[in-house]
Amino acid sequence: MQGVHLVEHPLVQHKLTLMRDISCSTRSFRELMNEIGILLCYEVTRDLPLETKAITTPITAMKAPILAGKKLVLAPILRAGVGFLDGMLQLVPSARVAHIGLYRDPVTLGAVEYYFKAPHDLRDRLVIVVDPMLATGNSAIAAIDRLKEVGAAEIRFVCLLAAPEGISKLQGHHPDVKIWTAAIDEKLNEHGYIVPGLGDAGDRMFGTK
Ligand code: URA
Repeated sequence: MQGVHLVEHPLVQHKLTLMRDISCSTRSFRELMNEIGILLCYEVTRDLPLETKAITTPITAMKAPILAGKKLVLAPILRAGVGFLDGMLQLVPSARVAHIGLYRDPVTLGAVEYYFKAPHDLRDRLVIVVDPMLATGNSAIAAIDRLKEVGAAEIRFVCLLAAPEGISKLQGHHPDVKIWTAAIDEKLNEHGYIVPGLGDAGDRMFGTK
């Protein structure tokens, strides 16, 4: 699928299956989310630009590759997106963080913003929006609308599971935003849940149901 990177790494697929299983405990679900966050972060940063830096090893001087440009920004959509944050920060410890609080109106399924706090200088930074579930696409679109409003120009979206409906809607609104996902599931049900999915990611991660 154009514009979608399907992360088929066996470790990601194995961990995702453990998470989908209804018998996965809250503790394991959270740990697995963290571990997959690391692996997805590795994939989404695969083509980051490098520059060379002159350094001296204990043996000799050399020019060695180092990440170029400003620190990237991780933008978790609250609350489930937070599940990816620690793992991603382990890999990119200097990243900046933008928190975007959105909840899904249970009737309209539209995204309602209740919190937004981002670094001021987004224009020259890669912004990676993270949310485990790309379902209707409404939250992802609202988060990206808001980030663009405050200056973000280069945005990527990382999720664990995507519904075909969510992918089409997000790509329709933001064709410039590439998507990284571990799986594309079959469909959305009438309540806006991904099928077969894994249920409510936030509830499973935080034990709120
Ligand atoms: N959000 C979730 O947590 N799960 C879904 O299946 C859809 C949206």
